[in-house]
Amino acid sequence: MLATFNQLNRKRGASMSEKKFKTLSGEEVKACYTAADLSSKKTTDSEIPGQYPYTRGIHSNMYRQRLWTFRQFAGFATAKETNERFKLLLSKGQTGLSVAFDMPTLMGYDSDHPRAEGEVGRCGVAIDSLADMEELFQGIPLDQVSTSMTINGPAAIIWAFYIATAEKQGVPSEKLSGTIQNDILKEYIAQKSWLFPPKPSMRLITDTFAYATRHVPKWNSISISGYHIREAGATALQELAFTLADGFAYVEAGIEAGLDVDDFAPRLSFFFNAHMDFFEEIAKFRAARRIWARRMKEKYGAKKERSLMLRFHTQTAGCSLTAPQPENNIVRTAFEGLSAVLGGTQSLHTNSMDEVLALPTEKSATIALRTQQIIAHETGVTNTVDPLGGSYFVEALTDKMEAGAERYFEQIDALGGVIPAIEQGFFQKEIAEAAFQYQKEIDEKKRIIVGVNDYIEDMAMDMPLLRIDPAIEEEQVKKVQALRASRDNEKVEKALRELQAEARGTENLLPPLLEAVRAYATEGEIASTLKEVFGEYREQPVF
Ligand code: 3HC
Repeated sequence: MLATFNQLNRKRGASMSEKKFKTLSGEEVKACYTAADLSSKKTTDSEIPGQYPYTRGIHSNMYRQRLWTFRQFAGFATAKETNERFKLLLSKGQTGLSVAFDMPTLMGYDSDHPRAEGEVGRCGVAIDSLADMEELFQGIPLDQVSTSMTINGPAAIIWAFYIATAEKQGVPSEKLSGTIQNDILKEYIAQKSWLFPPKPSMRLITDTFAYATRHVPKWNSISISGYHIREAGATALQELAFTLADGFAYVEAGIEAGLDVDDFAPRLSFFFNAHMDFFEEIAKFRAARRIWARRMKEKYGAKKERSLMLRFHTQTAGCSLTAPQPENNIVRTAFEGLSAVLGGTQSLHTNSMDEVLALPTEKSATIALRTQQIIAHETGVTNTVDPLGGSYFVEALTDKMEAGAERYFEQIDALGGVIPAIEQGFFQKEIAEAAFQYQKEIDEKKRIIVGVNDYIEDMAMDMPLLRIDPAIEEEQVKKVQALRASRDNEKVEKALRELQAEARGTENLLPPLLEAVRAYATEGEIASTLKEVFGEYREQPVF
């Protein structure tokens, strides 16, 4: 037996000597870095935290003044169950809310739509109307919390539900803080939960920019996301480049819509993935801040400091979690969460160990939150700002990530910009190739994933998983049908007619959307009213 172990370990040892040392993005990694590896155009001394271009962090004192927000993504079943989970997480020290919606809600269908069958309340909470949103936040004062909502195609509709819910609580929109993801470009690129074609989608998004500026000044009107691009198989470099390219496209859309860049840019936010290549992730976050600040100042003429600061949320990589030996995911998530903190994140979700198998149980969600609290309070990494700043390797890798992203920007510009690049399948092809290469390395054991292609154990899966009771669907269907029977349907039809008339025009759609929502029109009714004007997006498949 021992001989076998020795043989196996010798083999592992040998493979290390043949190993090519490179980052997950394929960047060669040298055995040692020195000052000679730092690009001549800058030294770390010129880059002070809280000062342009913010490579080392957007605030001079970062976590010494305020920790990042512990913001665990949560949502399942009906508004009642999710409201209970929100309150549980807040009681355990969570400091921001983050709503996960079910597929029907993400795609703009009511729970009783035929296409919703079997999906109601499964991957997130079922929200059909203002009534559900009121229940979701029952007992949670909306002027006391910041709420993120992961919604894209129907983002403006769900945001209107939230604003109307706050009105019901007596909270004016000016007091609301939070974020809607509202990033349709990455849906065309990676996540695929779209509704309308690009042009009307971009109009709705710039309408939310304008409405937030005027009426909801503390609201982050978009969360430009790299997370899903990465989860679709992109490398860290592709995630960085494609996400920022989307960001530039939104800035240009806002300017083309007649908005002053300094009116909306301060409330643009980002959302990145934190995967397992520890230093590459930290370099990615640092490069993102520097690229964004420089581009906003030099290309878009932004003047306000806050227009130049890239603020982001991070979720640890779902695609790095493994089903075999799921407890190992606690360790992976801890390292990924640490890389986000050392990279200067403003808000963080740490995955639960069972999320590769099901939505998290209360226990696994608690361990995930505790992971953040241990990083915050026990590791000392919050004592100083950007502790890895000045590291020859991290600074050199930051420079390389920046240079690699600039090369991608040139390719995207040559294709005519982000939307033409989407229509030509550029991003999708790049991501598919990266995903193929990553899996090939694992299959060929050139990349070891513990418990998956090495250190394998034949262990029965004995972890309790969260099961969604199928009766939830029937309960939610009855609820939305009872709402339709009890509301003032004349008022609903009038509001939907007015919304549709405005959709044919060029005025901001948030006011008529709010009227429809206040009349208890459902998400599905509003979405289909808009589809009659905007049409539906059809993807050109890419092979
Ligand atoms: N010095 C001075 N001020 C400081 C500070 C410091 N060190 N640290 C924080 N602050 C201030 C900030 O400036 C801010 O002030 P403001 O209200 O005037 O802007 C306030 O304290 C709150 O700080 P942040 O804004 O940094 O933190 P938030 O948590 O409120 O916001 C965000 C973070 C990234 C800007 C915001 O957009 C956010 O919360 N995003 C979250 C997005 C999210 O949760 N997405 C989840 C998606 S899940 C998903 O899609 C995956 C699924 O599909 C699989």
